[in-house]
Amino acid sequence: MTLIKTIPFKPLGDERGSLVALEGVRSLPFDIRRVYYIFGTKEGVSRGFHAHINLKQVAVCVTGSCRFLLDDGFSKEEFVLDSPTTGLVIENLIWREMYDFSPDCVLMVLADQYYDESDYIRNYEDFLERVNAEN
Ligand code: TYD
Repeated sequence: MTLIKTIPFKPLGDERGSLVALEGVRSLPFDIRRVYYIFGTKEGVSRGFHAHINLKQVAVCVTGSCRFLLDDGFSKEEFVLDSPTTGLVIENLIWREMYDFSPDCVLMVLADQYYDESDYIRNYEDFLERVNAEN
């Protein structure tokens, strides 16, 4: 089973350029409660290094590119996000790391819950324990 689930977004293009519209439930597997974006990431920086107990997200590189590592506690897979028309689905209990950000990268994330620090698992050993407890 692959950890990498992507959603193709339909670009609505005409002679002026392109447009992507994202709607909760209709174009994503959930209702959107929160949107955040990461930009201006310095060279050599890696981010993430956490999992969520109960949060679903879809990540889109609106501009530029970055690399994701997803890890379900059993296997790890890498994926390069480099298109504004591709969403990467990140389910709960998936450890993620992001790196190789291009200088122009704008990484937008759509989430199904409000920000809640208590939903984070920031320690990898705690993550493995949680995964094993659930399987
Ligand atoms: P952090 O989780 O460290 O970012 P990443 O996992 O992408 O490396 O978040 C950085 C800071 O921003 C941290 O203080 C928490 C805060 N934050 C919010 O207030 N709201 C949010 O929706 C997110 C994602 C982070």
